Amino acid sequence: MTSSLFSPFSIKKIQFKNRMGVAPMTRMSGAGDSIPRKDVLEFLVTRARNGAGLVYTEAIVTDYESAQGYPGQARILNQVQVDTWKGITDRIRKHGAVSICQVFHCGRMAYEGINPANRTIAPSPVAPSQDNPMTGKPYPVPEEMSRFDMDHVINGFVETAKGAMAAGFDGLEIHCAHGYLLNQFLSSYSNKRRDEYGGAMENRFRFIREVIDAVRPVVPDDRLLVVRISNWGIADMEVSLFENREEWLEMVRLFSQTPIDAISVSTYDYSEKAFGTDQTMAAITREATDLPLMICGKIYDRKSADQALDHADLVLSGKSMLLNPDWVTDLEASRELKVYSSEEAGIAYTETPLP
Ligand code: PHB
Repeated sequence: MTSSLFSPFSIKKIQFKNRMGVAPMTRMSGAGDSIPRKDVLEFLVTRARNGAGLVYTEAIVTDYESAQGYPGQARILNQVQVDTWKGITDRIRKHGAVSICQVFHCGRMAYEGINPANRTIAPSPVAPSQDNPMTGKPYPVPEEMSRFDMDHVINGFVETAKGAMAAGFDGLEIHCAHGYLLNQFLSSYSNKRRDEYGGAMENRFRFIREVIDAVRPVVPDDRLLVVRISNWGIADMEVSLFENREEWLEMVRLFSQTPIDAISVSTYDYSEKAFGTDQTMAAITREATDLPLMICGKIYDRKSADQALDHADLVLSGKSMLLNPDWVTDLEASRELKVYSSEEAGIAYTETPLP
């Protein structure tokens, strides 16, 4: 089989020069102005210059009320923030790469004091089981979202999407993965609602559809609207957030019926078999949608990258992109490469300059 890793790909009018992207990575480097540190922004440009076909931002926080989950996260809601990011997207484009802004509401993953209004909201008043590593304490029990809360959250996504479009991003990704707010609606592990937003998957999907329908008019047809999904969350990591393959497929089908342009599937290991089947997460997802797919999870060398493309169109890497500035050329040369550990990737949260 010939490798498609270095072949171009397009989604609508957006062209990718190859199939390798920088995964969204939040590095918590922002100060009071909610703008990431200069070197953190520069990292994105460097990876575009060094051959990445796609560059994702970190998770950009939507509203000021309850969306933030970690210190130092970024926003694109005011002119200074927009202008800063515009400088970055211009330079990413100059290096021939596509830029996508990931937008995020953390829901029940918030904690005391992290949001100005000091509220934690979620589909249901159920906290994650584990303690919050940021505080060493249990997560607060969230308040069940009211209709007013839901409208406010939707508005946060819309306003942030406007900021991202003004900042020149080629696309916007709505974070529906990793146990954050929208994933909390999708999974019965965190959604215990008895109204039309809980119960059957179709109901749990309802709020996500409202977010997508509100955001799509802000993201013009010549730019991309992507969603990210996963079967795992940052808290209670071992929990399978969807019950079985059928439930996952139903969710993917529902996403396919919305006006999105691609789906990004996040895994720990792209090659792992999912839901007790002999299929990978990407292979299962592919069955339920014709939309372009991105995949991440332990893709670190030429072999794994080629294999990951069997059931996806683009591969994303976090750790290798973070720690190896020459990852793309190393893949091109089929160099022997290592899997980086989470400990090594911890450099992402320090002021130590990246390689
Ligand atoms: C994630 O998607 O896992 C994520 C998002 C935002 C953060 C940290 C992690 O600040």
